[in-house]
Amino acid sequence: MMDKFKDKLLIYGATGYTGRLISQRAKDLQLDFAIAGRSSSDLESLASTLGVEFYTFSVDDSEAWKTALTDFSCLINAAGPFKGTAAHAMNACIDNKVHYLDISAELDSYQLAESLDSKAKEAGVMLISGAGMFVSYDALALHTAARVSSPKKLSVAFRHFGGFSRGSVKSSKNIMDLGMLFREASEIKPWNDPQPKLFDFGNGAEECLPTPLGGIILSYKSTGIPNIEEYFQLKLPAAGMPALDMDTLPDGPSEEERAEGRTKLSAEVTGADGSIARSIIDAPSGYTLTPLSVVAVAHRILNGDFKPGYQSPASAFGESIINDIPDTRIIDL
Ligand SMILES: NC(=O)c1ccc[n+]([C@@H]2O[C@H](COP(=O)([O-])OP(=O)(O)OC[C@H]3O[C@@H](n4cnc5c(N)ncnc54)[C@H](OP(=O)(O)O)[C@@H]3O)[C@@H](O)[C@H]2O)c1
Repeated sequence: MMDKFKDKLLIYGATGYTGRLISQRAKDLQLDFAIAGRSSSDLESLASTLGVEFYTFSVDDSEAWKTALTDFSCLINAAGPFKGTAAHAMNACIDNKVHYLDISAELDSYQLAESLDSKAKEAGVMLISGAGMFVSYDALALHTAARVSSPKKLSVAFRHFGGFSRGSVKSSKNIMDLGMLFREASEIKPWNDPQPKLFDFGNGAEECLPTPLGGIILSYKSTGIPNIEEYFQLKLPAAGMPALDMDTLPDGPSEEERAEGRTKLSAEVTGADGSIARSIIDAPSGYTLTPLSVVAVAHRILNGDFKPGYQSPASAFGESIINDIPDTRIIDL
């Protein structure tokens, strides 16, 4: 178990586009936190703006992690692509008995957290990879599943608003490289010949394209539903855009752009008797929602609310975590 009760949060990757928004949200909630990352000039000026301490070290420096994590109980890793950072940061958290959160959308990092379950339990710490947008997604899946008896199949569609940050475009390659996947009879499998499907986000049916998101891992953890399919209302940014020049992409959407639309998620769960329940999430646009979500989860942890081991957002907190995210609600259709 944890050696002593500490209630401080460290945010690694804090100078990235989303890391800065997460740090500002932590500041708004008056959490006791510090920031970290690999490049010191940006960190120093952000730390000075926020009035917090900062630590500069490479993600693979285990001694530096040990020093930096001494006073903290929870880490938010905002440094993506997570393929390059999640293993180092998760292992550092386990070694130093610190709870781990990230905002990854990469399935590999969820499976990594799953594989470290026993070590995390021994250390008495919780690992949640995917505590950004997936907090709402997972709460919606659990909520909708509870509306039928013996849920057998979950289909979820994501309607994104707000464009994509440069970091998300880079990371989406790691998602697309895995190919089409779904969960069938409790196993993750290649999804051969998937077809578009209509989903209602609250304003009538819209066509969505099969796309592996994270629910085939995270919402399997929270609901145990053996068959899970996922859809996206747009193509992921790396799909069909191999010539994107990263240097010319903006960091991410401006505050005004983020405020112009909403994130919508639509879930459909079929029960063993054939009955179907449909619910949706209405939430702020993506890059506003993610900081609100991951800091809500960190806030719970800092207050001593956690389950040791590998968890998804809803397996750790149930659907009630949605109540901690401002301007976000579940609606039953
Ligand atoms: N699912 C969600 O809810 C959600 C929402 C938003 C973002 N995301 C994900 O979050 C990640 C970050 O997005 P972003 O828009 O903030 O990207 P970004 O602006 O490019 O920022 C990435 C940050 O991570 C750091 N970083 C990257 N690789 C690193 C490494 N190997 N070692 C140390 N630091 C490293 C970068 O440091 P340098 O500046 O030194 O390069 C930078 O501070 C992406 O993977 C994105 O897909 C997920």
